[in-house]
Amino acid sequence: MTLEEYIDSHISGEPEELQAIDRRTQLYLLNPRMCSGHLQGRLLALLTRMQAPRRAIELGTYSAYSTLCIAEGLPEQGVLHTLEANDELEDFITRSLASSPHGAKVVPHYGKALELIDSIEPGREFDLAFVDANKREYADYYRALKPRMRRGGLMIADNTLWDGHVIEPDNNDSQTRGIREFNDLVANDPDVETVILPMRDGLTLIYFK
Ligand SMILES: C[S@@+](CC[C@H](N)C(=O)[O-])C[C@H]1O[C@@H](n2cnc3c(N)ncnc32)[C@H](O)[C@@H]1O
Repeated sequence: MTLEEYIDSHISGEPEELQAIDRRTQLYLLNPRMCSGHLQGRLLALLTRMQAPRRAIELGTYSAYSTLCIAEGLPEQGVLHTLEANDELEDFITRSLASSPHGAKVVPHYGKALELIDSIEPGREFDLAFVDANKREYADYYRALKPRMRRGGLMIADNTLWDGHVIEPDNNDSQTRGIREFNDLVANDPDVETVILPMRDGLTLIYFK
């Protein structure tokens, strides 16, 4: 038994519809390792339940696995706006949302996150944000979302250790630079409290004071 299998067998179970989405993701989509999966999905659901957001936003829907974990943790009146640049995923995402009892709390949007954020419930604040789209743009996502986060809001950012490349001096590709810029920006922002969880590819929790 691997440690990962041990962990998965000692945390809350993965709902059947999410198991099915994970299977469909592995079978039909490119880069299936982008899917949050059992452990990270349970953490997203739990953090969302603790935060009880009225309004949440996700950048990077992909197969809608993480989307439905966040939707699961939302209160009944809660809404999750999820943004995806690749409109070829629309049929896949529609099917994923329809398969879940929590899909009705989700509003999908297709287009580039930076072009869409301002049009989503303008003037309203988000209680929760999950950042998981283009790694080169993470710092811009932070700048765009920060004024929209309510005090007490929580931002979660995925892939913030980027396979360890963040500490490799010879690794300077645009995605690694994007993640480093984001990590530096957040670490130097006095308006937030920040923790990087070294799980999977690095998950940063950012609390807006
Ligand atoms: C890592 S995957 C998301 C995985 C998903 N959140 C999960 O955890 O299961 C990243 C997604 O972001 C999308 N994406 C890339 N650039 C984007 C952009 N500028 N705006 C919105 N989505 C983008 C990609 O098409 C891809 O589906």
